[in-house]
Amino acid sequence: MRCVGLRFVLAAIGLSIFCILVVFVTSNSRDDIHEKLSQPTKCDCPLTKDAPSIVPVLSSTVVKPKSCVEVQNTSAVKRAIVIFYPHHQSEYFFPEVRWLYRSWYEMLRSQPLTWRTDFVIFTYNFSTEFRSLGCVNRIRQNAEEPSMCRLFLYVPIQFRTSEMIKNNFQNVFNDAKRVMASYKDMKDPFIGIPIVADTDTFHAKRSQSLYDDLRSYGYVDSINTIYEGYPVFKIYDFILRTDIDVFIYRHFANYIPKNCTLITGGGGYGTDFNRRKLRRIAHDMGFAHANISGMGSTWYGSPYDGYLVANNTLEGMLWLAQNEFATPERESKLGTLMWPEWHYGVLLLYGQHLALNHLVATNQIRIVIGHNLLDQSTTDKSTDYVQKGTLLNLHCWHTDERFSKFAFKMGHYNQTDLQKFKNDTTAQAYAMRMALESKYMTLEELAANVRNISKVS
Ligand SMILES: *[C@@H]1O[C@H](CO)[C@@H](O)[C@H](O)[C@H]1NC(C)=O
Ligand SMILES: *[C@@H]1O[C@H](CO)[C@@H](O)[C@H](O)[C@H]1NC(C)=O
Ligand SMILES: *[C@@H]1O[C@H](CO)[C@@H](O)[C@H](O)[C@H]1NC(C)=O
Ligand SMILES: *[C@@H]1O[C@H](CO)[C@@H](O)[C@H](O)[C@H]1NC(C)=O
Ligand SMILES: *[C@@H]1O[C@H](CO)[C@@H](O)[C@H](O)[C@H]1NC(C)=O
Ligand SMILES: *[C@@H]1O[C@H](CO)[C@@H](O)[C@H](O)[C@H]1NC(C)=O
Ligand SMILES: *[C@@H]1O[C@H](CO)[C@@H](O)[C@H](O)[C@H]1NC(C)=O
Ligand SMILES: *[C@@H]1O[C@H](CO)[C@@H](O)[C@H](O)[C@H]1NC(C)=O
Repeated sequence: MRCVGLRFVLAAIGLSIFCILVVFVTSNSRDDIHEKLSQPTKCDCPLTKDAPSIVPVLSSTVVKPKSCVEVQNTSAVKRAIVIFYPHHQSEYFFPEVRWLYRSWYEMLRSQPLTWRTDFVIFTYNFSTEFRSLGCVNRIRQNAEEPSMCRLFLYVPIQFRTSEMIKNNFQNVFNDAKRVMASYKDMKDPFIGIPIVADTDTFHAKRSQSLYDDLRSYGYVDSINTIYEGYPVFKIYDFILRTDIDVFIYRHFANYIPKNCTLITGGGGYGTDFNRRKLRRIAHDMGFAHANISGMGSTWYGSPYDGYLVANNTLEGMLWLAQNEFATPERESKLGTLMWPEWHYGVLLLYGQHLALNHLVATNQIRIVIGHNLLDQSTTDKSTDYVQKGTLLNLHCWHTDERFSKFAFKMGHYNQTDLQKFKNDTTAQAYAMRMALESKYMTLEELAANVRNISKVS
């Protein structure tokens, strides 16, 4: 929707930066409408690999006085990489799952022997692909079980129709249960989210509001799973909440947040105008405000911190959708006209901005904005980050340059590229290699690799 709309304002100055920015922060929308309207192939915005030029206000570390028990990197650390996967858009998103899985394995290879990192997927069907990938429907029980792929059934907001949720969500899992029953060798207990009897992680009223006001907003499930899904990932020391179009880099293998902080990526959504506006809105909502800005959408921290941030982000998003955007804005009729001052497409980042400011100001969490840690571009040709050892993941930006997720999905890269990037240590080469290898491996081979790691450790 952003780029197509953009054609009509081609005369605008600073167009390229504008487009890249918007699409960067919104390109991973999980939502039907977004997918239909912004076919990547149709986007003809100018391409650049440059980072957003609107420099957000940065805060390094905000310290909270509250005591906390820091997880030591010498202990048996348990972690999860957590995604929401839209099962009904598998053609578009499954290639991303493959390469994320491949890069998860690559990272596991250099993980300390006592550490475990699971790949946790929330989605609405246990389709055969995930069986082939070796995913199970079981909550981790201890620190010894090997690193595993775990899939938990989750009802996306857009499917929470009154028909579906009557009798307390009784029937919402019928399809998924049927599919799982067809796997004769599958003995896993059934675990479905939301757990409607758990008042800490399910609020019927808010679920309804999300359905009413945000069901067409693509990002809502990737946040709501971190709230409602808390019971299945609270066992971990840390979770990485991430979009699917990322690559876990090797340095993630032994890096954990220090001092009980939550690390976020960087996000280029802040202008003086919207920073002031969000501050005023926080006041209206009764949220505290710490005056921090420029937080991106990837989170790396404790499960409880993630749960708190998700809870408050949902509150923020609902408030904004209900009170601060007019209908034409919500329906994307303005395209990107209001970017970067006030743009519905980045509602998630605004909601998260309100949430993080509130939680930091009330000493419930402390954060680090990890500009050099999270969400580096897959087009990066330098070896800097790589050698410094601080690169935890790579995130696909909106670009046609290698590595471009759009070009990859259109089949533009092949074995030739794989050979070419074999002996190359840049972030760009890493992404190319992970994506291409995942494409040429079968799901069974991918799964066998992960199992092989478990045998060693
Ligand atoms: C669920 O997965 C099964 C097994 O892969 C598949 O046959 C079925 O079509 C899927 N259902 C939906 C709604 O995606
Ligand atoms: C733990 O952290 C220390 C200090 O940051 C570092 O020197 C050490 O290599 C780390 N250990 C592991 C297993 O990563
Ligand atoms: C942890 O926080 C304390 C203050 O609370 C600070 O002095 C120290 O430098 C921090 N350590 C790291 C590694 O950030
Ligand atoms: C918020 O931060 C900005 C940029 O650092 C600063 O200019 C402004 O004065 C701060 N506002 C308050 C109320 O602290
Ligand atoms: C979730 O957010 C709401 C609204 O801000 C708040 O009232 C509630 O206490 C929060 N829940 C938790 C567990 O912090
Ligand atoms: C790989 O792609 C290049 C460039 O698109 C093309 O010239 C080449 O023939 C392809 N090679 C194979 C093995 O498909
Ligand atoms: C890989 O790169 C290194 C240094 O960049 C070079 O010395 C070596 O010959 C290369 N190997 C191959 C197989 O290209
Ligand atoms: C399994 O791991 C061993 C030891 O790291 C390695 O030598 C072997 O090639 C691996 N096998 C597969 C199928 O990855």
